[in-house]
Amino acid sequence: MKNAGDVETGLSSFEEFLGELYHKYKSLRDGTVANYIPELAKVNPELFSICIVTADGRVYEVGDRTHLFTIQSISKVLVYGLALEDRGRDYMLTRVGVEPTGDAFNAIILDELSKRPYNPMVNAGAIATTSLIKGTGATERLNRLLDMYRRYVGHDVFVDISVFTSERSTGHRNRAMAHLMLNFGMIDVHIEEALDLYFQQCAVMVNCRDLAVMAATLANRGINPITGEKAVDSTYIKDILSVMYTCGMYNFAGEWAYKIGIPAKSGVSGGIIAVIPGYMGIAVFSPLLDSRGNSVRGVKVCEELSHKFGLHMFDCVQRNLESIPES
Ligand code: DON
Repeated sequence: MKNAGDVETGLSSFEEFLGELYHKYKSLRDGTVANYIPELAKVNPELFSICIVTADGRVYEVGDRTHLFTIQSISKVLVYGLALEDRGRDYMLTRVGVEPTGDAFNAIILDELSKRPYNPMVNAGAIATTSLIKGTGATERLNRLLDMYRRYVGHDVFVDISVFTSERSTGHRNRAMAHLMLNFGMIDVHIEEALDLYFQQCAVMVNCRDLAVMAATLANRGINPITGEKAVDSTYIKDILSVMYTCGMYNFAGEWAYKIGIPAKSGVSGGIIAVIPGYMGIAVFSPLLDSRGNSVRGVKVCEELSHKFGLHMFDCVQRNLESIPES
């Protein structure tokens, strides 16, 4: 078991490779920062960091490594895991589907027949998922979420109140989805409370290393490789990674699976996590987004890592994980 302060961060050829990637894409300025949540529009678009944490706890990072930002939709992955633990797979399937939509992350749609939201990675499915987190009252539910984050990242996290209130006062699309699901009996609890918890989970502050440790925890069967603490029941890792693979990159999920081939999740603040089961977690942070809400540099970096190391899930020809140094 290692403490966060003990991790090896000495420069290696692998870290030099990350440095080259960083410099190559630092000059790429395509895309725009998210502005539909007013507080997010204030971010510096130049920020950029890449971090990789291996399943045995080695850390490689470059760029603006200490910058804190809100986790946004990457939270959906972790909260889905907690909901699976709280409710079980079968019950979750009655409330939230696992079908990719091909639509934008904020589309106001439910499955025609079942009235379920399509999957837990789009906003409607994530709101329904959050509404299923157990706890007696809003405070206990929030504390359970914050404790879950602590297990994944290895330290306490906090909610950025200005981003939370900014989204709460402008998130009318999400409110509309919640009302639609209430109408079909897909949400039981008071919807304003479910929305508040959803906006709070999205407004939790992380840095790029935190994201990579989360991804590495998923790569390491739910055990945080730095602290040794269990963050999520290993039984549900395959469920989480399956929906990341098929739905995590929204209406780019199919092309992402085809070209890059790694379970991943993006968020509108500019983060992307990608998980190589058994090997490592990858995180990129860069707030410039494409039209689907995915980080432009983040997609490029993951694409290049995937090709260089043969990380595509179904690539039995190129896979070259031996070139990542052993501890
Ligand atoms: O609900 C929202 O719209 C945001 N809190 C999160 C959306 C998000 O991150 C989608 N990501 N690409």
